[in-house]
Amino acid sequence: SEILRVGIAGLGTVGAAVARLLQRQEQALMARTGRRIVVTGVSARDAGKKRDADFSGAEFFHDPVKLATSETIDLFVELIGGSEGPARASVESALAHGKPVVTANKALLAAHGLHLTQLAEEKRVALSFEASVAGGIPIVKTLREGLAGNSIERVYGILNGTCNYILSRMEREQLSFEACLSEAQRLGYAEADPTFDIGGFDTAHKLAILTSLAFGTRISAQSIDIEGIERVTLADIEAADELGFRIKLLGVAQRTAEGIEQRVHPTMVSKNSAIAQVMGVLNAVTIDADAVHELTLVGPGAGGDATASAVVADIADIAKGVRSAPFGLPSSQLAEFKRTPMRRHEGG
Ligand code: NAP
Ligand code: HSE
Repeated sequence: SEILRVGIAGLGTVGAAVARLLQRQEQALMARTGRRIVVTGVSARDAGKKRDADFSGAEFFHDPVKLATSETIDLFVELIGGSEGPARASVESALAHGKPVVTANKALLAAHGLHLTQLAEEKRVALSFEASVAGGIPIVKTLREGLAGNSIERVYGILNGTCNYILSRMEREQLSFEACLSEAQRLGYAEADPTFDIGGFDTAHKLAILTSLAFGTRISAQSIDIEGIERVTLADIEAADELGFRIKLLGVAQRTAEGIEQRVHPTMVSKNSAIAQVMGVLNAVTIDADAVHELTLVGPGAGGDATASAVVADIADIAKGVRSAPFGLPSSQLAEFKRTPMRRHEGG
């Protein structure tokens, strides 16, 4: 069968997990796609670092842009992170050179999603980002393909595994905020700069992607009202508990009479509600739509293996020749996003 030569930039928690999963599922992926998927090139900062996967068969590139544009790869996978710097430069270069891209980088998409989509359209190549929202939950495909026959009213949920892990452990084990955050970092859930997690920015990046997919609007992370969980204390969690509530960091996007409202903030949810049962690193996304009414997906929201599951699904699609419009519509048809003031009293 024809080989699909993959270049991976970023060999940390997600990059190593992707390589392990590709190796473990090699036969099944060949049966499903008709192609042998081989990692032929890799890039990271430190060539000598011990990795959690075997990259000995791949050529090492010190510069991810060189890997992205190399004749030795057919597909570029960006797992470095960050909205600028090497992540942006390498993704733009890969697309400009006509290489399909898979990325887990929600910060990059939130900042440059429209521009990157236009680059991908110009060269008629895939730009895939299933792993960028809610880890292992296939929410991008669900909104883009699975619910194509629906008009969506609202999409909301728990979109950051680190925050949900911290809030859950604080409640269950009366641990301090700092101790729970350190543990989330040790487990590979947190961003390189955990301010993105606890400050609500990562949830906002993901919400911006979901909004674009759900409502056919141009991505607009700067329109989101954001409050993180840094100020949530054990005393707050205990007070909520006594009243029959849990505190969850939610991202909410919904149609209103004035337009689409997007917001991120800690929310008191009744302990009897479905969303309150979502504990630990799990994420949950609920969609209110006219034909399905309500749909909720729950699953692991962070961590190497869960994220690799989504990255590998995108790689398999590209191996099969599938090329969806990144945000479900041609970029020229995505409507301009109009900011709508937040109405906090409506809750989650
Ligand atoms: P990570 O463990 O910190 O790994 C980052 C990798 O990028 C490292 O291998 C690092 O190289 C490499 N890198 C950094 N700067 C580089 C440069 N200038 N040139 C080449 N390589 C460079 O991060 P991660 O957790 O795997 O996250 C990667 C991406 O996936 C991020 O966009 C993140 O938001 C996203 N994501 C993560 C998760 C998760 O649960 N971790 C889930 C969903 C999405 P060295 O190893 O040599 O330092
Ligand atoms: N830091 C992110 C989280 C990784 O905790 O949800 C998954 O996108």
